[in-house]
Amino acid sequence: MATDDRKLHVVVFPWLAFGHMIPFLELSKSIARKGHRVSFVSTTRNIDRLPKLPPTLSPLIDLVKLTLPRVDGLPENAEATTDLGFDESHYLKAAFDLLEPQFTRFIESSPPDWVIHDYAHFWVPPAAHKFGSSCAFFLIMSGWFPALAGPPSAMLDPAGPPPPPPGGPNAQPKWIPFPTDVALRPFQMKRMMALAGSANASGISDLYRHGASVVGSDVFALRYCREFEGQWLAVLENLNQKPVIPVGLMPASVPEDSPSEWVTIKEWLDKRPAETVVYVALGSEVSLTQEELSELAHGLELSGVPFFWALKKPKSVKLPDGFEDRIGDRGIVWSNWAPQVRILAHSSVGGFLTHCGWSSTIEGIQFGRPLIMLPFLVDQGPNAILLRGRKLGLEVPRNETDGSYKRNDVAETIRLVMSSADGRIYREKVREMSAVFGDRELHDGYMNNFIGYLEEHRKKQE
Ligand SMILES: *[C@@H]1O[C@H](CO)[C@@H](O)[C@H](O)[C@H]1NC(C)=O
Ligand SMILES: *[C@@H]1O[C@H](CO)[C@@H](O)[C@H](O)[C@H]1NC(C)=O
Repeated sequence: MATDDRKLHVVVFPWLAFGHMIPFLELSKSIARKGHRVSFVSTTRNIDRLPKLPPTLSPLIDLVKLTLPRVDGLPENAEATTDLGFDESHYLKAAFDLLEPQFTRFIESSPPDWVIHDYAHFWVPPAAHKFGSSCAFFLIMSGWFPALAGPPSAMLDPAGPPPPPPGGPNAQPKWIPFPTDVALRPFQMKRMMALAGSANASGISDLYRHGASVVGSDVFALRYCREFEGQWLAVLENLNQKPVIPVGLMPASVPEDSPSEWVTIKEWLDKRPAETVVYVALGSEVSLTQEELSELAHGLELSGVPFFWALKKPKSVKLPDGFEDRIGDRGIVWSNWAPQVRILAHSSVGGFLTHCGWSSTIEGIQFGRPLIMLPFLVDQGPNAILLRGRKLGLEVPRNETDGSYKRNDVAETIRLVMSSADGRIYREKVREMSAVFGDRELHDGYMNNFIGYLEEHRKKQE
């Protein structure tokens, strides 16, 4: 059919956080590799900070710069969550919502076949549909977290979130037809509720944003595959009443270029024996309290294990006195951007102390690094419960009420996962699973299937 040879135009619009922009950019590259045209939309300063596109793809990916309106409370020049404390991100959402007229004008000027959008984007589907474009909601998380959250329509109740299931907050939701212990735990609920309650410069809750973004879209895509916990797919199809399409895990590739940071880091890693270093990174969104930071630092010190700690620390908290002197060459505290994929791929790394965000989790497992888990927000806690059930790592013991943890437990968990005989199971299981997570052919197949869906359900030509 002649009309189906027409190449697609796809607009891709992630939330203003690099943890979202990077997987959306990878998705854009996969679409462009098929010869389709992509308009990747963000704000000026974010576009300027993206990694360079490969020369073969840059003619097909148009980087569209919107101007972020300023709102009271938003620090100067802040355009992404990394420019803010976690408790300030609601100002960014308020500014983000003011992008609606610019975005609508852009869509109107040349309506695309598809708009692929993120969770904060409740106003995007109506704008896109008005000009005949279809919408795909793309969740950068896995299947169990949105399944746990329940039917998206229930999130649209302005009175607030649906009541917890009868039997208490930890009872299994009735829409999950198989036994599971995956849940949000009290300390995580508290931390998120505290943020949600005090932080609403935009007046729109995250739950409402997510619900409306899903309900308004034509397709629900997510970073997921049937080969790992595939049973959640049917739950999501039931809950969402629309096509749910896994795009695969999108495993990371080790970049070919060699930035100057990497030279320094590699030199240090090269001196360590195989699988002896723990790589520590809790992402740029988690703001540790002073106590959390101190216990983690003391735990690393007590463990005796060499460590590379990527730490973007707010000025309000500090490392224990004399920490870096006592550690000497055994550990590095790295406050700049860290080339995480390169580090995890290095043979000296033998464990990954992580917050269990889904991108980091995929990267850790794809390179066969057992996980030492310290989750804080959103899907991290449920991910940790599921991963510990699969013996891909172990969680640092926590106080279930307030989430606090102790230095000795940090040290003990690191040693157990990385080197003790009792922890061999984690090292073996993660090695087995790296074959699935790193299977490029498998995950490319999912991505191709998703792009095939976009091609088959393109906008009708007038
Ligand atoms: C949230 O925003 C609304 C509207 O701006 C305001 O009336 C309300 O007090 C806010 N709620 C909280 C908990 O700050
Ligand atoms: C856990 O935290 C709560 C609240 O801070 C505290 O009351 C309780 O004693 C703690 N439990 C333990 C075992 O430390």
